[in-house]
Amino acid sequence: MATNDATFTVPGLSVEDGHRVGELLQIRLHALNDLQLTLKHAHWNVIGRDFIGVHEMLDPQIELVRGFVDDLAERMAALGVPPNGLPGDLVARRTWEDYSIGRATTVEHLAALDLVYNGVIEDHRKDIQILDDLDLVTQDMLIGQVQELEKFQWFIRAHLENTGGGLRHEGATTEKDAAAKA
Ligand SMILES: [Fe+2]
Repeated sequence: MATNDATFTVPGLSVEDGHRVGELLQIRLHALNDLQLTLKHAHWNVIGRDFIGVHEMLDPQIELVRGFVDDLAERMAALGVPPNGLPGDLVARRTWEDYSIGRATTVEHLAALDLVYNGVIEDHRKDIQILDDLDLVTQDMLIGQVQELEKFQWFIRAHLENTGGGLRHEGATTEKDAAAKA
């Protein structure tokens, strides 16, 4: 428990469990803050024939993810754990690397972003499992977020699907590899 945690949490949870949920949300907050910055970076750096479609597709998702970050932070505060939205803490605590693609074509960015979404969604889903025994209200918040994230990942994948139903970057394990295969 961080020293500046509150002495309370939401009703019906032990203070210990409430604060454990809050700590778990801190990493999800960092993950989604990182995601919205990464999406903006892609919005600025895509090039190619279908530039405008992808450039404009990204902005509503960025706004949605920013809203998710706000929801996570305010849920943390309600649980009695002060949310940290600062970039230094994000970089110090994240378990993933910075997005590795700069100026690149739409399909290169989308293939790399598909891998970014895999990581964020898998981690959200792991926490949904953990929350099954801890806090169903917070679990419900994360389930709602995953539903929207997976819907947008389908938008991404629809650009990368071949007629056989496979993805152009299938099997890629790094963003650069995915971009190269797309
Ligand atoms: Fe813009």
